[in-house]
Amino acid sequence: RIVYVNGEYLPEEEAKISVFDRGFLMADGVYEVTSVLEGRLVDFAGHMARLKRSLAELDMAMPVTDAELEAIHRRMVADNGIEEGLVYMQITRGAADRDFAYPEGATPSLVLFTQKKALIDSAAAKAGLRVATLPDLRWKRRDIKTVQLLAPSMAKMAAKAQGKDDAWMVDEDGFVTEGSSNNAYIVTKAGTIVTRHLSNDILHGITRKAVLSFAREAQMKVEERPFTVAEAQDAAEAFITSASSFVTPVVEIDGTALGDGAPGPVARRLREIYVAESR
Ligand code: PDD
Repeated sequence: RIVYVNGEYLPEEEAKISVFDRGFLMADGVYEVTSVLEGRLVDFAGHMARLKRSLAELDMAMPVTDAELEAIHRRMVADNGIEEGLVYMQITRGAADRDFAYPEGATPSLVLFTQKKALIDSAAAKAGLRVATLPDLRWKRRDIKTVQLLAPSMAKMAAKAQGKDDAWMVDEDGFVTEGSSNNAYIVTKAGTIVTRHLSNDILHGITRKAVLSFAREAQMKVEERPFTVAEAQDAAEAFITSASSFVTPVVEIDGTALGDGAPGPVARRLREIYVAESR
């Protein structure tokens, strides 16, 4: 595999990052994951817009121009022969003597790698996911896409220990925030799609934005508001969205099957629309 590190395209074994990089020492960095279908980046402009917002919130600058960053993404897709899969991109504040204050004049680190992955023909999309709910232990700026991912990683491990596929994280008031690495939705028995509104409590998903606009175009009813675990367990169906899962049905929440326990029609239809519009 070829990876990109600070201006160089290298075999992964030869790539190096400083021990003093603040991404490594302090999770002082942000990232984006963009999906690739038929060799093309999906919604790259959306990912760039969110990246700039994340950087601005942390007083970090873009290390390269927009055009350069897009060219780097494209070359990574080409050099690694990615027809279907993901491009991971990370920007950290760079290397500096360890200090809680941001260092002055540090050079940001820019790293990219790719992953081949069958996104369209996915077993999870066919069978649906079983999720467990867990307390959301993350910080209060979940709208910034930082590389500090230990809390969702712990939640996912706890869900797996229960034999489940993923975790839905729940805030102090009992409302679902999002999945470990995806946005969470339910479909009420009346057919309304419900997903938490945008705020600092959740990541503003790029797939979420596209899927909600497709849903509204298809005359589906959408409500952006918090929902509880009990409301979710009583829903007709549920699903998640992300760059790596597109739209994937959820068929069980904390052991309670939704509907007939099979992927629901709204989730299946939105997945079809999303894939058709993205390729
Ligand atoms: N995760 N919420 C969280 C906490 C996420 O980490 C992600 C993405 C999403 C969905 O965002 P988008 O639709 O822009 O992918 C929501 C990526 C895929 C990851 O960490 O691998």
